[in-house]
This record gives sequence, structure tokens and C-alpha cells, in this order.
Amino acid sequence: MDGIDLADLGFWARPLEERAAAFAALRRLDRPPHYAEVEIPEMEAFGFRRGDGQYALVKYADVAEASRRPEVFCSSRGTVAGTLDPPPEFMEYFGSMITMDDPRHARLRRIVSRAFTAGVIARITGAIDAAAVRIIEDFRPKGGGDFVAEVAGRLPLKIICDLMGVPEDKHDRVFELSNLIVGSLDPEYVPDLAEIGPSVIAAGEELRQMVYDLAAERADKPEDDLTSVLMAANVEGESLTGKELGSFFILLIVAGNETTRNATAHGLDLLTRHPEQRALWMSDFERYAPTAVEEIVRYASPVTFMRRTVTRDYELGGHTFKDGDKVLLYYCSANRDETVFTDPDTFDITRDPNPHLGFGAPGPHFCLGAHLARQELTVMFRELFRRLPEIRATAPPERLTSAFINGIKHLECAF
Ligand code: HEM
Repeated sequence: MDGIDLADLGFWARPLEERAAAFAALRRLDRPPHYAEVEIPEMEAFGFRRGDGQYALVKYADVAEASRRPEVFCSSRGTVAGTLDPPPEFMEYFGSMITMDDPRHARLRRIVSRAFTAGVIARITGAIDAAAVRIIEDFRPKGGGDFVAEVAGRLPLKIICDLMGVPEDKHDRVFELSNLIVGSLDPEYVPDLAEIGPSVIAAGEELRQMVYDLAAERADKPEDDLTSVLMAANVEGESLTGKELGSFFILLIVAGNETTRNATAHGLDLLTRHPEQRALWMSDFERYAPTAVEEIVRYASPVTFMRRTVTRDYELGGHTFKDGDKVLLYYCSANRDETVFTDPDTFDITRDPNPHLGFGAPGPHFCLGAHLARQELTVMFRELFRRLPEIRATAPPERLTSAFINGIKHLECAF
């Protein structure tokens, strides 16, 4: 176990195969490992609080059980995206439903989930198709370049912005701000550690202001977009307050963009490195699409973990947790658990069943955008195979330095 320290950012910069091997070793332990929390004095100076450390749930069964028991493994004490608990002004912007427990969480989820059912997503499929075609056709004359900036990052951004009604000339700015929020520990986005707190708060404020402006316009003149729907009371008289709308928008931007973009980029990288899987998928796109998309999400696990905080004594995985313990649910490890998946390190687009936890495990916080993400991935690879059948990654991915998101910042490609 020497040399495996999940709290050390250096661990997350290691090659993905090494990371996977480290988690395989951790899964062989008879209890969840514990690590001291990362020390970033600049963030503590800004009000982030370090605690007594973090436990890692690395086995599938443990991650699933913690997700099923939100009354014990709760989401409302601190952040779910890290271990250092943020200062209160952060929660102004990032205190959305993902950091709530029922009944507050259930109320918000009820209001917003109407916009994300499989039926609603099926209705916007035409718009997703048209957006993907335009993105690819805009890219074609360039003959290649950075797949993330030109293709993978564009579709989820456009779909969420269009859903919310954000005007097109603001889409690039939304992209920059969401990069900054998720990539704040990567020097490409925030070079000075002392600037992390202020930059992330400023990004939150700018996004919130954007949706406030939109909301003000829609109050006078409602349109056929999510902002109008969320502001209007529904039959049960439930609607979002202005503050809730602001933090929900920020959650959607971050949760919907970064994840799907990374899944798409990992997809191209994986298909380049596994030409036999690519040939198989291209031989009958529709037949393999459902399982291929799930396998990309399992294999890439774009969200590495979510955190929970323990509310009372509870025994899980050979350990008795105590009130206040911080527990990280490592989806990346659960998704390679050899007791659930045959040959878990093999990328197999025909894998079925594939009960991966890439969108979270069954529980109240299961990914709200899972249908949308699956649809975007399917449409993007369908159009890529159709329009740029030669496309491949030409260099190893340039990865994001992050313990939370398995991100690809840049991926050179050619066709
Ligand atoms: C491949 C793409 C995606 C992945 C891997 C992913 C993954 C996740 C994960 C792991 C969670 C937490 C689950 C839990 O705590 O139990 C989550 C929650 C969430 N996701 Fe996604 N997601 C993706 C795409 C999207 C999209 C496209 C949207 C919306 C447009 C979205 C919106 C959300 C929201 C709002 C939550 C919070 C739900 C709640 O707290 O009730 N996600 N997602």
C-alpha cells in the first residue's frame, strides 16, 4: 500500500492504468482505507476547513450501500465534491440540490426532474442531432485539432445553454467559467493557489448573474425554455426561488458539461486504442450503441467519486463509521470491481449486463441527466462515424489534474 495516497494530488496525475492497479490493491483490503486530508494552506487561509481525514469506499457493494442509505451517509454537511469543507459564501453558489438531503432535496428534485425524463429527452433528440451535425461540419474544414475544444466540449454546452435559454454569444463564456470551477486545482485554469477561492466564487457570481438576467427577461415574456418552466409555479404550486434557480443553473452547467465532455473525449481515445472495438461498433452502429455508451461511462468513470458525511455510528465494509466521518464513494473503483464485472480492465462495447455506477448508484442523488448524457453520447458517435469515419486521436490525452473529475483537457485528433 506504500505510495498509494488518495489524498495526494500527485496520485491523480499518475497514468490511468497505474491508478486502476492501485484501486485493485485497495479492494483487496479487509476494510476501507483512511487518509489524512490534503493540506493546501492557501485554501485554508480562504476559509476551507480540513477535518480528521477521509475514508475511501472502493468496493462496489460498499459504494452501493452508502448510496442507498442517505440518512446515514448524508450530502448536506459540507461539499460532495471534495474533502475540504468550503466557507459559507461558497454554498451561496454551489449549495444546490446535490448538497442537500430530503426533504429539501426531494422538493427541488421534484420540480426540476420534469425537465429531464426520458420522454422529454426523446422530444429534443432532433435538436441534439442538429447541434452535433453542425459542430462536426464546422470542424471538418480544419482537418483536425483539439477534439475537446472543437467537438466534445461543444455539444453538452450547447444543449444545456439552449435548454436554459442562454443566448448563443454567451456560450463560450459559460464554457470558460465551468472549466474554471471544475479545474480550479489545475494550474492551466487557476495558476495561483491563493486565487482558487476568489476565482471560483467570481465564476459562480458571473453564472448566477447570467441566469438572473435571463429570469428577469422571462418574467415579462416567458419562452419555451427551462428557465421559464422552473420559474413558473406548476400544478402543485411549486417553483424555484431566484437563489435556487441560480445554484441549480451552476450545478447543471458543471454537472452536465464537464462529465459528458470527458466521456466523449475518453470515448474517442478508447476507440483509437481499441481499433477492434471501433470496427465492431462501426459495423452495426445502432445494434452496439446502447452497450457501447454504457461501457464508455463505466470504463472512463468521468466522475471519480462523490463524498458523503456520516450521521451516526454505522458498520460498513468491516469498519464502524462515526458521526462526522467523511467518506468518498469511489465510482472509478466500483466500476472495476472484479466481483461484479468479468475482466473489468477490458474495454468491451458488448458488455451486458453492465450495472456500472458511473452515474452514481441507485439512491436519491442518481444522476438527473443520465438520459440526456446517453443521448448526447449516442448522437455524437453516430454522426462522427458517419461524417468523419477516419477520425482518431493522434496523441495521448492531456489530462486534467483533479481527484474528482477524470478529465481530458486536450486531445489532438485527425481525420
Ligand atoms: C457522462 C455524463 C455524466 C456522468 C458520468 C454523470 C455523473 C453523475 C454522478 C456520479 C452524480 C452523483 C450521483 C450520486 O451522488 O448518487 C450525478 C448527479 C447529477 N447529475 Fe450527472 N452525470 C453526467 C451527465 C449529466 C448531465 C448531462 C446532466 C444535466 C444536464 C447532469 C446533471 C446532474 C445533476 C443535476 C445531478 C445531481 C442530482 C441530485 O443531487 O439529485 N449530469 N451525475
